[in-house]
Amino acid sequence: MLKFRGGELTPRTEVAPSILAADFARLGDAISAAEAGGAPMIHVDVMDGHFVPNISIGVPVVASLRKATQLLLDVHLMIYNPERYIEAFAKAGADTLLIHQESTPHLDRALAMAREEGCKAGVVINPATPVDSLSEVLAQVGQVLVMSVNPGYGGQAFIPHSLEKIRQLRDLRTRYHYNYRIEVDGGVALDTVADVVRAGAEILVAGNAVFGNGDPKNNAENLLKAATEAALQKV
Ligand code: DX5
Ligand code: ZN
Repeated sequence: MLKFRGGELTPRTEVAPSILAADFARLGDAISAAEAGGAPMIHVDVMDGHFVPNISIGVPVVASLRKATQLLLDVHLMIYNPERYIEAFAKAGADTLLIHQESTPHLDRALAMAREEGCKAGVVINPATPVDSLSEVLAQVGQVLVMSVNPGYGGQAFIPHSLEKIRQLRDLRTRYHYNYRIEVDGGVALDTVADVVRAGAEILVAGNAVFGNGDPKNNAENLLKAATEAALQKV
């Protein structure tokens, strides 16, 4: 996972296309385009209509995606009390389970359940949630996702103060030797990607920037290129 670059270990920069912005009747095509564009994973947005206003994808779709691709499935649970569904999503084939800090009073238990089911456990914070609120779980997660929009919909504008949270997570990881990767989700596109990468984000979720206008394969490639250039400048 770590590449030796410019004298220090730098985590690889990756694009995670969010199929929320794809045509749900043609998800197979969306996956093929993401893969051809160099993405190592697909970001899957699960919404329950309560934790967020929207309803989207559930367990059966994750199971179908699992049969259709070898790419990692990065499953973002925007649902209340995610403990109820962790086993089901793990059995359906999720690789990473991303659990919102705000979605359960039993965050520690939910993260432990995800790991016990064989998944990478990730924690997510909304724009109004401080990094400090994660102090008791940072040692036990493999991924931290900073929401750079209020979750529920694709195509929203990037919230700039997310950059400071990404920097804080990078600094905490260095100081305490944590092992998580830093992910960002919402409004990531060609005009924001360099800033998020320079702040320290390594997994870049992109919905509309990949599946919106133009060819998804080219879009994913161009985003990865811009991200990689920014990552090289950073060192
Ligand atoms: C928003 C979702 C995102 C969404 C991002 O609630 O978590 O993953 O698909 O969409 P864009 O990249 O269009 O902002
Ligand atoms: Zn998401």
